Parts: sequence; structure tokens; C-alpha cells
Amino acid sequence: MIISYGRQNIDNSDIKFVAKSLKSKLITQGPLVRKFENSLKKKLKCKYATVVNNGSSALLLVGKILNWKKGDLIAVPPITFLSSVNVIEHCNAKPIFIDINMNDYCMDPDKLELELKRDSKKKIKAAIITDYGGQPAQWLKFYYLKRKYNIILINDNCHALGSSIKNDVGYASKYADFVTLSFHPVKAITTGEGGAIITKKINFDKKAKILRSHGIIRDEKKYWSYKMENLGFNFRLPDINCALGISQLKKLNKFVLRRKKIANIYNNFFFEKKKFQIPKKIEGNQNSYHLYPLLVNFKKIKKKKDKLINEFLSYKIKLQVHYIPVNSQPYYKKKYGLNKTKFKNSFELYRNQISIPIYYGLSSSQIKYFLKICRRLFKMK
Ligand SMILES: Cc1ncc(COP(=O)(O)O)c(C=O)c1O
Repeated sequence: MIISYGRQNIDNSDIKFVAKSLKSKLITQGPLVRKFENSLKKKLKCKYATVVNNGSSALLLVGKILNWKKGDLIAVPPITFLSSVNVIEHCNAKPIFIDINMNDYCMDPDKLELELKRDSKKKIKAAIITDYGGQPAQWLKFYYLKRKYNIILINDNCHALGSSIKNDVGYASKYADFVTLSFHPVKAITTGEGGAIITKKINFDKKAKILRSHGIIRDEKKYWSYKMENLGFNFRLPDINCALGISQLKKLNKFVLRRKKIANIYNNFFFEKKKFQIPKKIEGNQNSYHLYPLLVNFKKIKKKKDKLINEFLSYKIKLQVHYIPVNSQPYYKKKYGLNKTKFKNSFELYRNQISIPIYYGLSSSQIKYFLKICRRLFKMK
């Protein structure tokens, strides 16, 4: 079996609960949707939750709720998944890329402030900030910028379910106006495909629930009647998937704990500072390790990254790279150009980073095997 950088863990309790949901009268938009939303609210200590069919839809709904339009600028880091930036394009707004810092690999708040200072016409409406790999960004600083410059904050929290700041797992919706989650199989918990929007504002939540189902507002007195005031989508998450989500969420703590244990093994193994940079420990942050981004000094190990990845593959270990900077993708490069010198850190991370295996079901013998191959390919003692 191939050892990948991440994968889901499904057990019998998940299967039983999903099978039960299949026997229910409503297999979509039944009682489990609300139940999953309530479980998320409780777990994440947040006021409102709307589940949707994936994390990308969650982001798009946020852009639509905020009514982003032509002329608006939305700040975003290059080191994130495509969806965090594509949402901006889908709303006809323009991304303004802000480099990451090399401490947490998330957007650099000081660089965001430079752009906000320069923005005399107040075109920057919002910032989408990804808590990369499970490491929370500098949310206190971003919160300060939000109040000083009156911008909206979106935490693309797709990597960071189960992370915390100062022991608060509800940090994300504390600082950001919107939090988006993904329940894709490689994430902390899965619903197959799925996502959610978390917010503390009732009006944002109401809008999210209307827009996820065509913009329909039902008539409470006449079950057959409805009206549509806003253009919406079908971004609904079926009960079948919600059943899996409810069952998985119960195991989040256990999943994260195992990830942390694996991260500790790697922290001790890749201690040679000249060859490797392990993820940094940041005071107050608890990293849930969606990823274990290992930075490799390829000059020191005298090997190219492509070659190393292929060598691992020949041992049935499939590493990944997170991410190719989004502003270097042909679509964005062609439309907005690219000045690489402005994004030194993003490109440094891209050049040196590999995502090594980390997930709940990774067994001790698989870890041993992986480290044995590492010793061989990195020429370690
Ligand atoms: C940072 C980030 N944002 C957004 C998404 C999109 O989520 P989904 O795949 O559920 O649409 C992902 C998923 O890979 C992600 O990693």
C-alpha cells in the first residue's frame, strides 16, 4: 500500500451511523444537517454554522454574502489552495497577494499593513488568511488591522480544525468575521466532500443558509410557496454526509492527538538544522498538523526536489508539495503578472517544502519504514 501524506480514517461507528442515515426518510436536508451544524457550534464554541457541499463553496458563499464586486481588492497569500483565490475571481474582484512570513508560513500581517496604508481609496475590503498546515496565523495582529482599517477577515481554516490559540479551539470565529472549513478526506475530519461557514453574526448566517439553496426563502404558512430575492446556488450537504460528519467530529480530539504524536517523532528525527527546518513551535499556538511541512536544504543534501520525490515514490511513499504559489499559476500570471521579488518567502517555501506522511491511521511500523527510507535518501546517520 502506498503511504501518502494524508488520508481519512473511517471506522465501524462511522459506517453504522451512515448506514442508519440511509434508512431514514430524508437522505438530504433532513434532521442531520441541523444536528451536524449544532455539533460544530458546540465543538468550536461558535454562534452560527452553515454546512455546505465543500470548502470551496463555503468560500464562494462568503464572497457573495459580502457582495464583492469589480474594483474591490481582496488580500490573500500565495501559499494556499487555489480556492482561496478563485473565489475572488468568481466575484469579479481582484486578488492582492501578500507574502507569507517564515515563522508560521501564513500571511505576514506587517506586509498586509503596508498595503493597507498605501490603499488611500479603501479598495481593500477583506483579507482571506489561511492557517497553513494547521498552524494558526497571527490573529491578534490581524484583528488589530481589522479594527484600524475597517476590513473584513476571513479565516480559511480548512487546515486548522482542532488547532487553538491560548487553548481556545474557538479562536477562529473569535477574530475572523467568517471561518471556512473543508471536510475533504485528507482533512482533520471528513464527510467525503463537505464544508462549513462559521460566523458570529446572525445576518451573515441567515444569508449563508438562503444562498446555499438557490436563494430560496420558504413561506412558513404555505409549504409549497417560496420566493427568491437573491441569486443562490445548490451548495447543500446531504444528510448522508452529515451523518459521517457527526460521527467523525466525535473523534476529532483523538485524531489531532495522534497527529501531534507523529509530529513529535518527526521533530526529534529531523533535528539536523543544516539540512532541515521543522515546523516552528509558536508560543500560544497549538498546531493540529493537517500537514507536516518539512523544509529541506536541497543544496546540502545535493539532490533536486523532483528527484527526491521520485525516489520516495519508488519506495511507495507519495509526498506532496503545499503549495505552488497561486500567483505563479498561468491564469493569475497572465492576468496580473508576477514580481517574484515581492514574494520571496512564498517562493522559498515552495522551493524547499515537502509534506511528509501524517494522519491518524499511520501505523508505528509505517513511520519506522518511512524514517528508514529518509535515513537512506537524506544520507543521515
Ligand atoms: C486552504 C484550503 N482552502 C480551501 C480548500 C477547498 O476545500 P474543498 O476541497 O473542500 O473545496 C482547501 C482544500 O483542499 C484548502 O486546503
